Amino acid sequence: MFRDYATTLKQIKGVTEGEENLIANLSNIAAILKELPGYFWVGFYLVNGEELIVGPYQGPVACSRIKKGKGVCGYVWDSKSGIVVKDVHEFPGHIACSPISKSEVVVPVFNTHGEVMMVLDVDSAEIADFDEKDKAALEKVANHITELMA
Ligand code: SME
Repeated sequence: MFRDYATTLKQIKGVTEGEENLIANLSNIAAILKELPGYFWVGFYLVNGEELIVGPYQGPVACSRIKKGKGVCGYVWDSKSGIVVKDVHEFPGHIACSPISKSEVVVPVFNTHGEVMMVLDVDSAEIADFDEKDKAALEKVANHITELMA
């Protein structure tokens, strides 16, 4: 599916410019990303000790906490690299926050020391709705958040 990430990225840069509050920025970024076609759930899970805790998001209610290494989000935190999951039911240990989610893409967000501070998670109600182009665009969003936290 075509998604106009160039425009999305411009909007994100525009809305976060001059704003240093992280929660405000993550909230607005989630709202902008939710406008993209097929984005059923989009949001952040923030690293907190040995867990991820849900942060700003748009979409149906989600799991509050995910243990390290659990689910797609926990895997991305552990492996420090993004992943496209074409069919969540084929991902071992996938956490089903919503039975409607069928595919997803998750990317890590690093601090300037290269530590994972959070993950950006996007879910779709369609099978195989995301590919490497989506992942690459979301990695740009993640890099922008790293710059905002610098
Ligand atoms: N699917 C994720 C859980 C979070 S939600 O889907 C919002 C996972 O397995 O990490």
